[in-house]
Amino acid sequence: MNEAGIKEETLSAKLISEAADLITAASLAVVSTGAGMSSESGVRTFRGEDGFWREYRAEDLASIEGIRRNPGLVWEWYRERLKACEELEPHAGYSALVRIQREKSILPLITQNVDGLHQKAGIKDVIELHGSLRTASCIDGCGAPCVRMTEDLFEELPPRCSCGSILRPDVVLFGEQLPHQALKRAFRLADSCDLMIVIGTSMVVYPASSIPLIALRRGVRVIEINTEETPLSSVEGTLNLRGTAGRILPEIVKVAYGV
Ligand code: OAD
Repeated sequence: MNEAGIKEETLSAKLISEAADLITAASLAVVSTGAGMSSESGVRTFRGEDGFWREYRAEDLASIEGIRRNPGLVWEWYRERLKACEELEPHAGYSALVRIQREKSILPLITQNVDGLHQKAGIKDVIELHGSLRTASCIDGCGAPCVRMTEDLFEELPPRCSCGSILRPDVVLFGEQLPHQALKRAFRLADSCDLMIVIGTSMVVYPASSIPLIALRRGVRVIEINTEETPLSSVEGTLNLRGTAGRILPEIVKVAYGV
């Protein structure tokens, strides 16, 4: 029971139903996801108890200087991450997003994730703000086309560009700008959507964290699905659904569209 004496399940059912109503009523809903979206599929988050940044220093593994200093170590890490992502399967929350996308016909999805699980699940129109693990490019920007990250790329570490320099993964590294077109589109969507659904991000990495705030400032409702509170949770206009994406998203879909 909570303070008002309402049973937790009732409260949760009420919130799920409110979220389902907001989604069915929206003309342009936009989804924004972070590492928590992938965690039930087995991808580690960055800041949780088992998060990458509890074990490693971001500046060692996710910066240009880190790659130049110790390319073998960094590429070992990316090889492991890529292998994990290839082997993992999208959970039920992804299928729920596919269903919402089918029902609404337009449902752009902005993500900070680089693991490709949204696309693997069949979600269309994915805007990758932090790049992706699919390809790698010359660290010195020699102009050679990007290379697909497949197992044979890792036969000798670090992998090299045809010009002889080392390759870097096409993910956004610390200190780098976000891909211009992706960021521009994300800001435009925040400016034009009438609902935003924010899933599994700690909301601490700028500029991705500013995107829902742009929508909220226009009076647009934001549904937050997260296992924990974030800086977004207490902002007026946010509907807080506390729990995992793999449980909550299918529940919303069930209420909104039936099984
Ligand atoms: P974080 O690891 O910072 O946050 C993950 C969030 O997901 C936390 O708020 C958790 O409470 C929540 N969470 C965990 N499991 C969940 C679940 N099953 N369902 C719902 N929520 C869950 O990840 P991000 O916010 O994505 O950047 O991190 C942002 C950026 O920081 C990353 O893209 C990466 C990192 O440094 C770069 O590498 C450039």
